[in-house]
Amino acid sequence: MRPEPSEFAFHWGLNPETVFLNHGSFGATPLAIINEQRRWQDWMELEPVRFFEELLPPALVESRQALATMLSCDPDDLALVENATSGVNTILRSFDFKPGDEILVPDHAYQACRNAIDFVASRNDVNVVTVNIPFPIEGPQVVIDLLMESVTERTVLAMIDSVTSPTGLRMPFEELTQALEEKGVAVLLDAAHGIGMLPLSLADLGASFVTTNAHKWLCAPKGSAVLYVRKDKQEHIHPLTISHGMTFPLGETTRFRHEFDWTGTRDPTAWCVLPFVIEHLSSMYEGGWPAIMERNRSMVLEGRALLCDKLGVSTPCPDSMIATIATLILPNSGAAGIPLHDPDPLHSRLLERGIQIPVWSWPSPEGRYIRISAHLHNSREQYEYLAEVLIDELEKE
Ligand SMILES: Cc1ncc(COP(=O)(O)O)c(C=O)c1O
Repeated sequence: MRPEPSEFAFHWGLNPETVFLNHGSFGATPLAIINEQRRWQDWMELEPVRFFEELLPPALVESRQALATMLSCDPDDLALVENATSGVNTILRSFDFKPGDEILVPDHAYQACRNAIDFVASRNDVNVVTVNIPFPIEGPQVVIDLLMESVTERTVLAMIDSVTSPTGLRMPFEELTQALEEKGVAVLLDAAHGIGMLPLSLADLGASFVTTNAHKWLCAPKGSAVLYVRKDKQEHIHPLTISHGMTFPLGETTRFRHEFDWTGTRDPTAWCVLPFVIEHLSSMYEGGWPAIMERNRSMVLEGRALLCDKLGVSTPCPDSMIATIATLILPNSGAAGIPLHDPDPLHSRLLERGIQIPVWSWPSPEGRYIRISAHLHNSREQYEYLAEVLIDELEKE
């Protein structure tokens, strides 16, 4: 018998046959939000020219305003992008590197973003300095010490995560940003796991660049993310797609705004619904977003504790380094050493038994990991079921 999801799961159209413990990879969007997006798509197709010329510009202003309220920043410092990968690429492809410059990046970084760093580094004769961070880890200070001692006078940019993908670590990004920016190192915060997962206050944070996905923890439709660029950096940053904005008369606005507001014809409805998304989730749960984030964090900590207990493994990081995803190191590493891009057979076996959850072997820090997630649709019973099935499957290895 599959365990029941939570009493909030009816808001989503998730397959009832699947125990969905991987909100972290691609998010999941409630039905009402999908319907709202379809309404916007209907308007777009009813009168395409009026939609793009009259309806869309004020809609995007409202979307940036709604995001800015949640992110505590000036809406004019935000650009709408499709995803965090694009946000990271936008900065890297615009950044003015000189030969011999260094980019700092921890080994826990998301591989797609690491690829983008390697690409620009090889084109610009820039050195990539990989900082190895242990996992299991004692606490956030370890991260701060290791990163800060790797800064040299040639370090111009550091890409750090808000929460790491393979290891699920909530990084001490506030302290790191402050320390790095103070040393003249521009911080690119990869907050793919950010808005809707943990409180972010971008004006106070002081990072040069932040990108965060709305389609993960905010539950917006896919293709919806935001890029923050601090005012003093805006004149150097251009969208990946150069379009009309580069020459359009400025009027009341900035070149940054013009360039990012139009990057060619596309379906922008995932951005148009953002004010609705923020309001809809907020109304689902008493206390709104702050309470949702608290609830999801408590749920994942509870799930992690019960799994560690039943599997007889220890928690690889303190609770303070957990947001709403948590990675465990699998006790039986029978299949460790599987190349990064190959599927782990354990993932498929868990899926056969109805559980959707990531299992992967990571090269550095080396280990075979399983990562749980918690959003409003998840229940404690789902983690109990996972523990039971996982023990059974690991015994077969
Ligand atoms: C840390 C991190 N960065 C970037 C991404 C990429 O997100 P997207 O595919 O939405 O661009 C992810 C996705 O899981 C991630 O975990």
